Amino acid sequence: MELFLDKIQGFLPKSHPWAESILCFDTIDSTNTHAKALASAGAPHGTVLLANHQTGGRGRLGRRFHSPAGSGMYLSVILRPNCPPAELMHLTCAAGCAMCDAVEETAGIRPGIKWINDLVWNKQKLGGILAELSINPNNGLVDYAIVGIGINCTQKTADFPSEIREIATSLHMITGRIIDRNRLAAAMILSLFRMSETLLREKHAIMAHYRADCVTLGKEVCVHRFDEICHGTAVNTDDDGALVVRFADGHHETISAGEVSIRGMYGYV
Ligand code: BTN
Repeated sequence: MELFLDKIQGFLPKSHPWAESILCFDTIDSTNTHAKALASAGAPHGTVLLANHQTGGRGRLGRRFHSPAGSGMYLSVILRPNCPPAELMHLTCAAGCAMCDAVEETAGIRPGIKWINDLVWNKQKLGGILAELSINPNNGLVDYAIVGIGINCTQKTADFPSEIREIATSLHMITGRIIDRNRLAAAMILSLFRMSETLLREKHAIMAHYRADCVTLGKEVCVHRFDEICHGTAVNTDDDGALVVRFADGHHETISAGEVSIRGMYGYV
């Protein structure tokens, strides 16, 4: 099923505040990159970009996000929360929970979240979130935030490039069904809208939901930081989404997502 604007709008309540600001592209380099350009040119809060295919899909830490035509959901939204950046530290976490809600509503399964931004199922990656902020240098407030989400929808194992085949999954592989991407897009838009309405007011409650979805907590993890790899146990997240790790000598560190990636002791999760 192709992505069609009228179909997506058909799944949204009439006069939804974001219904008329959805842009669908066939091929684009990256919905996040294009969203940044539109936001810099003044595009309003709630502008949603969807693509059928990305030639330069990006992930966290400069990684590539494989985005073949017709197989995945590639969506970005422009937010203008007009707050200091310190109030948005939990944005990736909030978007993760919002996407778990959207997948659950559409596909009937609730993914887990591998800290901080990967949607996972059964120790494999279903999708990911890339949140990017731009700060207004005149007042230090967030000029805009871009939240980009990629979800693997129709792929079978053999469709993934060999380097990610072992760790990647799709909604089709999980459910055995072809999920209507237009319906999923609408569910994601509704969920992101709800998230944007509660983001600043309900941080504590959002992070409680995040902890419930986060499969990293309680696990032994490898912390990859620059050239260093340390082993510990992920014990909690704080309300900014930083991961609290207990190391073998008993000391705890609170690790922000910045340059750090986490691996399970025995594999990806
Ligand atoms: C990650 O795996 O680290 C995050 C992946 C985020 C991918 C999405 S697809 C839509 C949006 N456009 C991009 O270039 N990236 C995000």
